[in-house]
Amino acid sequence: MAILVLGGAGYIGSHTVYELIDQGEDVVIVDNLETGHIEAVHPKARFYEGDIRNRSFIDSVFDQESIEAVIHFAANSLVGESMTNPLKYYDNNLCGTKVLLESMVAHGIDKIVFSSTAATYGEPERVPILESDKTNPTNTYGETKLSMEKMFKWTGLAHGLRFVSLRYFNACGAHASGNIGEAHNPETHLIPLILQVPNGKREAISIYGTDYETKDGTCVRDYIHVTDLAQAHIKALNYLRAGNASDIFNLGNGVGFTVKEVIEAAREVTGHPIPAKVEGRRAGDPATLIASSEKARTVLGWNPEHADLKEIISSAWNWHKNHPNGYAN
Ligand code: UFG
Repeated sequence: MAILVLGGAGYIGSHTVYELIDQGEDVVIVDNLETGHIEAVHPKARFYEGDIRNRSFIDSVFDQESIEAVIHFAANSLVGESMTNPLKYYDNNLCGTKVLLESMVAHGIDKIVFSSTAATYGEPERVPILESDKTNPTNTYGETKLSMEKMFKWTGLAHGLRFVSLRYFNACGAHASGNIGEAHNPETHLIPLILQVPNGKREAISIYGTDYETKDGTCVRDYIHVTDLAQAHIKALNYLRAGNASDIFNLGNGVGFTVKEVIEAAREVTGHPIPAKVEGRRAGDPATLIASSEKARTVLGWNPEHADLKEIISSAWNWHKNHPNGYAN
């Protein structure tokens, strides 16, 4: 039987497909290519272009393929856009997942691994953040991801479906093959924006705020390599296959780096001076986000292998310097 990866042409989805195929899994990908890239689709996966909001389309995939479980990345994920166009997020993220679950229930597919986010917590009460901590999203993106988790919970209780929700902290880095990497348009994430400077596409990196209560005044984040995230999805899949109950896990390294530390590490990796300019705070940015991933380590047996920040940035740089325009020629 195959694993259906929704959003398998996107950043984290494509990396997960590469790991699944490396481990001998049969993979089917669905992606509407709105933000995904056809070039990121693994050549050994069977690809269906379409939208999960389209019930007859998603039904046809389940009818044609023998699907054991679903890994669900198909969502919009820009925090800023989610605040200016919230209904786009309700439509794609929530309505899409509702249609997906209706189709899964109708086809008797009872296992789903879900791509969630640290944005479900909002401004944390303490760090490192535990899965049992308060969830109070400060943006529509995080709110829709939290609602999706709840949709799995209630659908599971009614229909016997089991889910694992993986709340990622700051995904970064690229696949060791150099074939796939991060390519967002517009790009809003720190590490790819920093690397646009040595790539000659940007004069300087902006630092959004130096007056936070952190060791150097800039925001602290927990950066986690995309290949480590991909491995966690496979662990979660095997956890569900073993018959375990639905659950939620944080995924991070448990170590925080400031924006200034990330820029300095990128200077060392690239050998470029990377000028930085200080700007005001970006709306909605919490000062510090660090995961406790103890639960994923102990329950799923997950062990991130690329915790070193310079190693993470090196892998991102290996991708960006060879693909300065992402997947475009
Ligand atoms: N930053 C800058 N300059 C930039 C870009 C970012 O200083 O040009 C700063 C941000 O202010 C933030 C840090 O770098 O403090 C990291 O920013 P990112 O945009 O890379 O990542 P976020 O922490 O904002 O977002 C991540 C995920 C989201 C998730 C969010 C949860 O990418 O999907 O964490 O808060 F919703």
